[in-house]
Amino acid sequence: MKPQDIIKEKGSIWIFGYGSLVWKPDFKYKRSKIGFVEGYKRRFWHGDDLYRGDKEKPGRVVTLVQDHEACTWGVAYEVADSQVDESLQYLDMREAVGGGYVLQLLEFTAREEKGQNNNNNNNNNNNKLLALVYIATSDNPIYLGPAPDSEIAERIVLCRGSAGLNMEYLLRLAQFMRCCCPDVDDEHLFSVEAAALALVL
Ligand code: SIN
Repeated sequence: MKPQDIIKEKGSIWIFGYGSLVWKPDFKYKRSKIGFVEGYKRRFWHGDDLYRGDKEKPGRVVTLVQDHEACTWGVAYEVADSQVDESLQYLDMREAVGGGYVLQLLEFTAREEKGQNNNNNNNNNNNKLLALVYIATSDNPIYLGPAPDSEIAERIVLCRGSAGLNMEYLLRLAQFMRCCCPDVDDEHLFSVEAAALALVL
């Protein structure tokens, strides 16, 4: 389904962020919800030779990797019809052209907010929506793939790109999880963070 078709049907679109978009959306949106997508794990497996690294030494940034037992937490942003052209143009430049990510449509489940009645299935279904998600796959030329957490951390502490330090990207993502999803244990993220901090402290 194309973004334009979703807008025609629903009047707005949702965009799910699980990397820098959770702490630096920088595009116009109407509202946001914290929640998760099922069937995907977040991994520092994508290379970044622009924002958090360079051609010589690409940084490591996150992508989503299919895993039917996993789920990944982040933020979904609702972009209204009037904001869509500007926001999608900005995101395409940032994520697709600059980052090598491609768009997919996934089911997002919003976290239940305090006071929300969750006693029946209808309410649970109200928390689900379709969201556009930028994902980088292994066929991308700057995809780096799996590596031990210690190796990922070594690369992250060394790299810097046009948006700043690769370490900042890692720390801000971990900070988002601690502060906005305190009950979620994102093992890979926190283990890479601990390994990176051990190298610099
Ligand atoms: C991105 O959105 O993937 C790049 C922006 C950043 O690293 O700050």
